Amino acid sequence: MGRKFFVGGNFKMNGTISSIKGIIDNLNNAKLDPETEVVIAPPSAYLLLAREHLRQGIEVAAQNVFDKPNGAFTGEISVEQLKDLGITWTLVGHSERRVLLQEEDSFVASKTKAAVDGGLGVILCCGESLEQREAGKTIDVVTSQLKAVADKVSDWSKIVIAYEPIWAIGTGKVATTEQAQEVHAEIREWLKKEVSPEAADNTRILYGGSVSDKNCVDLTKQPDIDGFLVGGASLKPAFIDIINSKM
Ligand code: G3H
Repeated sequence: MGRKFFVGGNFKMNGTISSIKGIIDNLNNAKLDPETEVVIAPPSAYLLLAREHLRQGIEVAAQNVFDKPNGAFTGEISVEQLKDLGITWTLVGHSERRVLLQEEDSFVASKTKAAVDGGLGVILCCGESLEQREAGKTIDVVTSQLKAVADKVSDWSKIVIAYEPIWAIGTGKVATTEQAQEVHAEIREWLKKEVSPEAADNTRILYGGSVSDKNCVDLTKQPDIDGFLVGGASLKPAFIDIINSKM
C-alpha cells in the first residue's frame, strides 16, 4: 500500500471563535479528496471548539504538547489532556518554537516520545535556516534534528515528518520542486539507514513553506513529497484546493 497523501493546516496563533468556525464550516461543506488525510491545528484555546464542530474524518492536532504526564507545569498541555479532548495529533518541533522559544532537539525528541507512547500521531517538523542552507548544511541540520528523535523513539509508524525550510515559511518564497524533492529523498534515505527500510517506505514526508493553491500541484508530482503542512493558506478558502491537489 502506498503512502496516503496528508495535508495539515497549521493556524499558528491566528483566529477567533468566529473565524475558526468559518474555516471549519468551509471544510465541512467542501468536497474533499477521500484519498487525502486532513488534519487541522488551531491554537490550543480552540482545540475543543474545532473538534466539536468539525465533521468526522478530519482530525485535529495540537500545535505543541508537553513531555510530562501531569503536575506543576504552568501553561503546558499533556498528551492525556489532548486525548481527553478527542485530539489525535500534535505538531512537535515547529521552527517557530525551535527558534523563538529555544526548543532544543533533545526536548523536541522527548515530546515526540511522550506523544507516540501515549498514542498520538506526531507531525515532526524539521528544517534549516537560510544561513545553514547557504553554508551547505541543510542535510546535516535536518538529519541531526531527526536523529535526536531516533535516539529516543524506535516506532515511527505514528510519525509524519514535515520538512519546512525556515527561509520559505511565511515568506512567499517556496522551495523549488527540485530543492524540496532533494531534501525529501535524503530524509527517506536517512530513514532507511538509521531507522528501517519499512519506516523509509511508510513514513509520510510533508513539505511546508509558502505552500499555496498556485504551487501545490507541481510539488505533488515529486515522488518523495507525500503532502503538505500549510500555514497562512490554511486560513483561506484556497486550503480546499491544496487538500484536493492530487485529484
Ligand atoms: O506550519 C506551517 C509552516 O510553518 C508553513 O507556513 O505556509 O505560512 O509558509 P506558511
